Amino acid sequence: MTETTEAALSNLSHEERRFPPSEEFAANANVKADIYAEAAKDRPAFWAKQAERLTWSKKWDQVLDWSNPPFAKWFVGGQLNVAYNCLDRHVEAGLGDRVAYYFEGEPGDTRTITYQQLTDMVCQAANTLEELGVKTGDRVAIYMPMIPETIVAMLACARIGAPHTVVFGGFSADALGTRIDDCQAKIVITADGGYRRGAASALKPAVDEALSTRPEVTTVLVVKRTGQDIGWTDGRDLWWHDTVEKASASHKPEAFDSEHPLYVMYTSGTTGKPKGILHTSGGYLLGCSYTQWEVFDLKAETDVYWTAADIGWVTGHSYIVYGPLSNATTSVMYEGTPDTPHKGRWWEIIDKYKVTTLYCAPTTIRTFMKWGKEVPEKYSLDTLKLIGSVGEPINPEAYIWYRDNIGHDKAPVVDTWWQTETGSLMISPLPGVTAGKPGAAMTALPGIAADVVDAAGDSVPNGGGGYLVITEPWPSMLRTIWGDDARYKETYWSKFPGVYFAGDGAKKDEDGDIWLLGRVDDVMNISGHRLSTTEIESALVSNPKVAEAAVVGASDETTGQAVVAFVILRAEAGDGGEHIVKELRDHVAKQIGAIAKPRQIMVVTELPKTRSGKIMRRLLVDVAENRPVGDVTTLADSGVMDAIRTGMETNSGADD
Ligand code: WTA
Repeated sequence: MTETTEAALSNLSHEERRFPPSEEFAANANVKADIYAEAAKDRPAFWAKQAERLTWSKKWDQVLDWSNPPFAKWFVGGQLNVAYNCLDRHVEAGLGDRVAYYFEGEPGDTRTITYQQLTDMVCQAANTLEELGVKTGDRVAIYMPMIPETIVAMLACARIGAPHTVVFGGFSADALGTRIDDCQAKIVITADGGYRRGAASALKPAVDEALSTRPEVTTVLVVKRTGQDIGWTDGRDLWWHDTVEKASASHKPEAFDSEHPLYVMYTSGTTGKPKGILHTSGGYLLGCSYTQWEVFDLKAETDVYWTAADIGWVTGHSYIVYGPLSNATTSVMYEGTPDTPHKGRWWEIIDKYKVTTLYCAPTTIRTFMKWGKEVPEKYSLDTLKLIGSVGEPINPEAYIWYRDNIGHDKAPVVDTWWQTETGSLMISPLPGVTAGKPGAAMTALPGIAADVVDAAGDSVPNGGGGYLVITEPWPSMLRTIWGDDARYKETYWSKFPGVYFAGDGAKKDEDGDIWLLGRVDDVMNISGHRLSTTEIESALVSNPKVAEAAVVGASDETTGQAVVAFVILRAEAGDGGEHIVKELRDHVAKQIGAIAKPRQIMVVTELPKTRSGKIMRRLLVDVAENRPVGDVTTLADSGVMDAIRTGMETNSGADD
């Protein structure tokens, strides 16, 4: 009897169902149950043992230096080259002909790139960057579509010790510019454009706009992807095919300190200014490498692994690039959207490349649910042996749909909790050990120490809820916020002294397993992407027609949360109406990027505030979610909520 029929017979709710690994899966799994105890006995010793999977040019003297918390140093005194670990060593081991990536362009063009070829490409790019004057420690901004050259650019940076900062291609010129300023990038690598939703979508114009006021950036390296018309600045812009593709493919990797900066990735915080999360070399690479092998039960000789995320987010960094390559994995890389040119594109790709492992976000799974199970049914998904989820809590209904219709009730689902800051997976089932529970991320991985605490910082008993914290340092942890040690301490280590506060609420169930409950700060999660309410509010009030703005994340069936904005207009803006709503939505897209566009903008005459003037977002969420408004006793003017509700009925949000 299959588990599905068993569950139907016993009338279990989705949430109550349990999915232990099959005997066969458990017997062949890379890690077994005893790993937890082994790791807990001596965490640094456990990580030191795992670090043997990397190739070190010089072995470390000390596994962990935690003498100056919260500033951690891992594998102190050790030296390695990250690109060498991802490329050359596999070629040296005779794996040069193994496929590193099956690239599938959105229009249907394909490329198969072996480890030998990728190594050559990275050496060429490293030589070019050096010729262009990029030195160890210089920052390089990368603003690219999802094409192999993006990976080449990142690894070339890693190879010469120049930290990269990849800016998601969906961000605007302004957002790109502020990131370039913050890390003082010296050069930008971009492309004319990429393919999205069946058309060429330009990238270079945003770079031109950002650099028009930033003459400090003297070089722009441009990959030709779409062939669309672009502006050109002589003396500054260089074609990739005229430089990189003509450079020597021989380049000697230098060994860098284990704590040498690898990259800065910007992510939204609770203030308007994004935080540059700094990851360094040895510990970060170990985290990605070990967890990919452990949680995705990677069999590198036979697996075809696919993380369907954008490289512009941390998931792409850790599980398209650094984890898979350090493990000599064969991966799929897909450029475009899931519904181009038809809604079965992902399943067609899985069928075509015989993908064994799929890793994606719940928001996409919910979109597939809406499109119907008839779509994946047309393709063979039989090669899938494990499917993963990341980015937001996966609701039990989506988990079951994913398991039944994509995993065909045999591939375990791993719901993985982690963050840009954590660098690699932190809380997740182990597929060969854990009986998965729909909706729960389960327990901290071996070598990771997590807990749920109450407001006083005390561990809650099973059955209790509170704040998720990480109580011990871990190898792939962020080292600081770029250029702002004080903000690093304040943001992550001050709410509960001595432990890392992740910003998420969580509960422990009766078995002690962890369920994530979403952010407890002013960070929203839209389609698995982090956005800050304050950042969007700042964007709105930078429009001269807006006097005041409050932004909240309202729950949304598909995207998890959706941006809902309440604005008070200045007198000169007139009475609002449709045109202003459109103008403001476009304004936010220009300031931050299309992903930050509010789903709805409500023009109101007042905002609910406490007597001390703090906006009561909680009440606005009630309004945005169409619920009765909660406790209003701290509200300065109790009539305001009625006024907002009335306003809401007359101000519909545009949706495009
Ligand atoms: C949320 C993405 C519940 C969480 C890797 C976290 C999740 C934020 C999960 C980090 C999950 C991520 N279950 N919530 N499995 N995975 N989150 O930095 O709120 O883009 O703090 O990293 O996403 O988002 P980030």
